[in-house]
Amino acid sequence: MKKNEERVGVVVGLGSNGEGILKEDGMVVFVPFALVGEKIRYRVLKVTSKCAYGKVLEVLTPAEIRVRANCPVFTKCGGCNLQHVKYFNQLKIKEDIIANCFKKIAGLSVDVKPAVKGDDEFRYRNKLQLPVQETSNGTVIGFYAENSHRVVQIDDCLINAPWTANVIKAFKTYFEEFNIKGYNELDKSGDVREITVKEVKGNLIVTAVVLNENIRGTDRLIYILKEQLKYTFSLYLNVNNTDTNVVYGEKFILLYGSPDYTGEMLGIKYKIGVRSFMQVNNSVCCKLYSAVRDAVDADDDTVVIDAYSGAGLMTALLAKNAKKAIGIEIIPEAVKCADDLALKNNLQNKICNHLGKCEDILPNLVKEEREKNSKICVVLDPPRKGCAISVIKALIDNDIDKIVYVSCLPSTLARDVGLLVGSLDVIDGEIKKVADYKPRYEVSLVRPYDMFANTKHVETLVCLTKIKDIIGEDAGSALADI
Ligand SMILES: C[S@@+](CC[C@H](N)C(=O)[O-])C[C@H]1O[C@@H](n2cnc3c(N)ncnc32)[C@H](O)[C@@H]1O
Repeated sequence: MKKNEERVGVVVGLGSNGEGILKEDGMVVFVPFALVGEKIRYRVLKVTSKCAYGKVLEVLTPAEIRVRANCPVFTKCGGCNLQHVKYFNQLKIKEDIIANCFKKIAGLSVDVKPAVKGDDEFRYRNKLQLPVQETSNGTVIGFYAENSHRVVQIDDCLINAPWTANVIKAFKTYFEEFNIKGYNELDKSGDVREITVKEVKGNLIVTAVVLNENIRGTDRLIYILKEQLKYTFSLYLNVNNTDTNVVYGEKFILLYGSPDYTGEMLGIKYKIGVRSFMQVNNSVCCKLYSAVRDAVDADDDTVVIDAYSGAGLMTALLAKNAKKAIGIEIIPEAVKCADDLALKNNLQNKICNHLGKCEDILPNLVKEEREKNSKICVVLDPPRKGCAISVIKALIDNDIDKIVYVSCLPSTLARDVGLLVGSLDVIDGEIKKVADYKPRYEVSLVRPYDMFANTKHVETLVCLTKIKDIIGEDAGSALADI
């Protein structure tokens, strides 16, 4: 197999990113946008010692589950990797991806329940992030192409909220009127790097990430946004002149509107500010949070530790039925929102929010609470990289009865669950499968929540219940010595 070679083959499997897998010349070939059973003509783009990567040129025999994608930049922007698949089958693909991750990464056979879907397959996102790039063809607003730093121009996005096209139009007008330039990664020049928008109950928080806070024409930008948007909105500048991929710099300047907005979900009033994390799909979020509440099943004796708690909505929801709920979150503004939320919902006596890293705070906290209380449930909702080893180790060491894990990346979820259950361990500094192990936890629930329809991403809810008869026996793992 050679680079640039054109070949014909049949897709025999599905990769963890939803891509097709072919097995040819003793090689595994990954081809995005190809479906199992399809005969395709493809070009080989890259060959390594272990595998190859290809690009579909023509689908010769389309799968029954294939549909025509409506987006003009489908396959070009890095967003909707599954828009060419019937929605029902997208859910099946995600269920398979999760089961495969558990099997391959953690050596665990789990029963993945049918995925829960949201109200809408399109126009569901309440959050938008648009890089702005200066190119030889002018200023481009859009999304990054897959695995690249090249921005693909877009005018709208079918999975984003209906205000997307208006936001882009408003910024394009402003850029043209004031000769505003996008970011040039090579010489670090330009005016605007990113535009981000969050919708909280019909109110938009718009942020222009700029290199210099004295950017021209912002009064006019407010005026154009007022003309274009039929929503209440706030406009922030965020100053980021660092040479990193991190979206926001430290300094936010509110130019117009309210600093934050209030919403309500499952009877909890919450506040979202410019930096607070919020789930991207309200209808799925609502279903997920109520499932978390049911899985935790707290009573007056239960202490719930909500690790990676964001703006505290889930903490408050869990506090309602519990003795108390304790949030841990790294972003100061989100913790402030969480404290306000506790007050607003009259739960201040039942909620305690800690600012800092879970890896630093959780180990001592779990130990202290364990000593004082008989029933502890820990909820984990980490970012994509999953939990730190110190977090996993603290849960194991303190015999936590129930762990409810919400994950946005099946591979790190499978790794962390494997470590908790005992099918994985840290051996000589590396995570390895353990041949003979006594499971510490039963994986009592694995259910996908399709927070990100049409994309390869999926949210998964996992419930782990302590297997009682081995409490206290589990001292022998290398993990226990870290
Ligand atoms: C996937 S979000 C979950 C937020 C919240 N549970 C919710 O549903 O809105 C992950 C959160 O973890 C926070 N975070 C990231 N790394 C962290 C760390 N090391 N320690 C504590 N919080 C962290 C992020 O700021 C973010 O708010």
